[in-house]
Amino acid sequence: MEYKIPLFELNFDEAEENAALETIRSKWISTGPKTTEFENKFSSMLNVKHSVALSNCTVALHLAMKILGIKNGDEVICPSLTFVATANSIRYVNAIPVFADVKSYDDLTLDPEDIERKITAKTKAITVMHYGGFACDMDSIMAIAKKYNLEVIEDACHGPLSEHKGRKLGTIGDIGCFSFFSNKNISTGEGGMLVTNNAEFYKRANLLRSHGMTSLSYERSKGHSTSYDVVDLGFNYRMDDIRSSIGIVQLDKIETDLKNRAEVRKFYIKELSEISEIIIPFQDYSEFSSNYIFPVILKNSTYEKRDLVRNKLAEAGIQTSVHYPAVHKFSIYKDFYLEMPVTDYITDNLITLPMYANLKKDDVGYICENLKNSLKC
Ligand SMILES: Cc1ncc(COP(=O)(O)O)c(C=O)c1O
Repeated sequence: MEYKIPLFELNFDEAEENAALETIRSKWISTGPKTTEFENKFSSMLNVKHSVALSNCTVALHLAMKILGIKNGDEVICPSLTFVATANSIRYVNAIPVFADVKSYDDLTLDPEDIERKITAKTKAITVMHYGGFACDMDSIMAIAKKYNLEVIEDACHGPLSEHKGRKLGTIGDIGCFSFFSNKNISTGEGGMLVTNNAEFYKRANLLRSHGMTSLSYERSKGHSTSYDVVDLGFNYRMDDIRSSIGIVQLDKIETDLKNRAEVRKFYIKELSEISEIIIPFQDYSEFSSNYIFPVILKNSTYEKRDLVRNKLAEAGIQTSVHYPAVHKFSIYKDFYLEMPVTDYITDNLITLPMYANLKKDDVGYICENLKNSLKC
């Protein structure tokens, strides 16, 4: 079924087409100069020392675990209100995900008090997720990390260029991870970035993304190196130059894109703030945000009612989603189940409405009108 208004619309045009074509014609398409350019540009836009482009964010999170030495039996505190990859990355190294609740229906980010309650002698790290591009309470979380000597990984998939007190999300903890999946703020089809200010972590990420080899094919093709050693048990987690060249164009577009998204958010808030049946999370948020998604939460509702409202919106041609089903309720996570009342209500009663830079004011009006009518059902 074709929706009249999709959840997300890709902003690609001739610029991405030309960039990909130019790279193809250059005859170097795997990891090479375009990937270095993409990494350098990303570092400078985020004001971070090092960026390593990767094949997606899931592998960035996996590398973060490896680099920080998280291993069998260690505990890592993370949200359940996230995409499953946040927790899976902890399982990849046989560590234990300890789910913490989020703050409230207004602030869907990890609750520092619940984080602190869940710390044990086995806790090694905290993975935060900046929901929707809205910052976690990083002051409190970094203070807890310091107090208990824990590492902090930022799953910043939703928040490229989002800020917390003037610092970009992803650059506050030990390692930050970004996704360039096709529906993200920066799209390369599949893709990811690991960022860090730590030179040792950077060196290790570079090694591990390419089989633990001491040189890349591109360096050998340019005569910078004629052989290689394998010094670590690495992976093939590389980004290729075709996608990096698209990523560079996406970085050129992102500032304008985010300004437009902020306008879309304003239209939504104007239309929806008077509706007593819903909560708009982060309604009074004042920091710079990527506005990756626009979620609303139905008050005094149930899972069944939420799905009825979603079906009504779908009948009007409006695509919606749910960010996210609770990870701690997935079958594969049944052994890690913990009570999380706030997350439980949110995951049953949240609807993600369409959000993209090119979403028109009239479209927002149409969505909000239909939402109001659906809520009466
Ligand atoms: C919060 C979060 N974490 C991790 C991921 C995984 O990213 P990728 O699809 O690039 O592996 C995503 C992407 O959907 C995400 O939204």
